[in-house]
Amino acid sequence: MPAPSAPWWRDAVFYQVYVRSFADSDGDGLGDLPGITSHLRYLRDLGVDAVWITPFYPSPQHDAGYDVSDYTGVDPLFGSLGDVDDLLTRAHRLGLKVVVDLVPNHTSVEHAWFRAALDAPAGSPERARYLFRPGKGRGGARPPNNWSSVFGGPAWSRIHDGQWYLHLFDATQPDLDWSNPEVAAMFDDVLRFWLDRGVDGFRIDVAHGLAKDRSLRNQRGRRSGETDLPSDRQGSMVERRDVDEPMWDQPGVHDIYRSWRRLLDTYDGDRMAVAEAWTRTPESMARYVRPDELHQAFNFAWLLAPWSAAAFADVIRGTLDAVRPVGAAPTWVLSNHDVVRHPTRYGGGHRGLARARAATLTMLALPGSAYLYQGEELGLEEVDVPPEFRQDPVWFRTGGVGRDGARVPMPWRGTHSPYGFSRAGTTPWLPMPDDWARLTVAAQRRDPASTWSFYRDALRARRRFADAGEDVEIVDGRATVLEVRRGPLTVVCNCGPRPARLPPGTVVLTSGPLDGHLLPPDTAAWVACA
Ligand code: NOJ
Repeated sequence: MPAPSAPWWRDAVFYQVYVRSFADSDGDGLGDLPGITSHLRYLRDLGVDAVWITPFYPSPQHDAGYDVSDYTGVDPLFGSLGDVDDLLTRAHRLGLKVVVDLVPNHTSVEHAWFRAALDAPAGSPERARYLFRPGKGRGGARPPNNWSSVFGGPAWSRIHDGQWYLHLFDATQPDLDWSNPEVAAMFDDVLRFWLDRGVDGFRIDVAHGLAKDRSLRNQRGRRSGETDLPSDRQGSMVERRDVDEPMWDQPGVHDIYRSWRRLLDTYDGDRMAVAEAWTRTPESMARYVRPDELHQAFNFAWLLAPWSAAAFADVIRGTLDAVRPVGAAPTWVLSNHDVVRHPTRYGGGHRGLARARAATLTMLALPGSAYLYQGEELGLEEVDVPPEFRQDPVWFRTGGVGRDGARVPMPWRGTHSPYGFSRAGTTPWLPMPDDWARLTVAAQRRDPASTWSFYRDALRARRRFADAGEDVEIVDGRATVLEVRRGPLTVVCNCGPRPARLPPGTVVLTSGPLDGHLLPPDTAAWVACA
């Protein structure tokens, strides 16, 4: 169990704010920092402990801000440094922690370093901050190796003098060469800059990608057309032990995090970092949270698992077995801005929402910390964004897969778009569905049976079990019902087709109505056992 002196992040509930879609204060159709600040009380009332804010730095926005051109500034689209200070002050006053996104694997092509690299000759120190290489074949016309971009297509682009540069994501996101000490030094400064301003932590983008196999050798056994997107993995591969990945999860990456840990430890207030690392196994995830490395790593296993008691039990067991030896607490997450929202993943409609609520209640019963994605407290589903409004680079590189459907702005109030997200009459950056009036925050706060009220109740109830410890027993998880005991709390999740019996005790909370004393299919319950 977390010791009484456990750091705040160990069992915190984090709420992911996707800046451009949360709240627009100036009527340009894009969310911004003052929009977040004016809704911090909302987050406090919902009952979360911390806010993770996606990138708001200057950027040409080719990948919604994950293409940074200046790591210590604020894009005027989102506000100013003064707005960051205001946000931090207000959040801290309300008792909320603030985590910002750090994007160290790649810069934007508009970063001063990449511009300088293009202006400098092959072999120059300016080029050595990135991964420039000569091509293969006659005239170097073929890329240096067979790596694919996570977003589809080749991972290499060619520049004016014939050299190629590596980009594991979009061509506008050149990968940095982390074996160059200049790169590490620059990011140390960036970390200090935001820590000095008062942020409580960092979410590390593509944390498993910074170190590449130095030889940049070919990847073995790659199927053509396959991307590394979560959508290609969902439901099929929770673990991918046999895949050859010379670009991911290389041993050298851990030296970077050891050095960051030393830096973070020089600050007061339990500053933390969480790795976004799409590792192949729970054991490799656990390597990022060894005592001298990062504090947390996103645990994507559940989000990749199908709706199944056995699959959920495997995820819980695998996760806890992996983090226990390194003394870390687990994290849990069901949705974020890169994956299909979980009500839709679980089949959509009434059943998808029931399952999503049940999975959420199950996850919130577990030890460690949970990450929520804005809008899941409203039960929002993935939106089928028409092709002409698509913005995600993945859509264009794959010709039809994209993440915009999970990024549609938050509906706050009212009966039609932009539902209080922006000033009336404003066109939001992605179109908002016509039938969202019943899903707005205002509508759901009035309804005790709404998904919003359910999240608020669940977060409140979770606080009551803060001392339930970190030991977990999977009582049942072989068939269709998952039953997990954690101290005095038992959570039961019915993934099967028939109503299930609940263990003796007091029912604390359910994700949907009970059927007499029985737990209906697609429903979860918390039971306090004596
Ligand atoms: C992971 C981020 O969550 C995603 O949105 C982004 O496109 C890639 N990293 C590249 O930075």
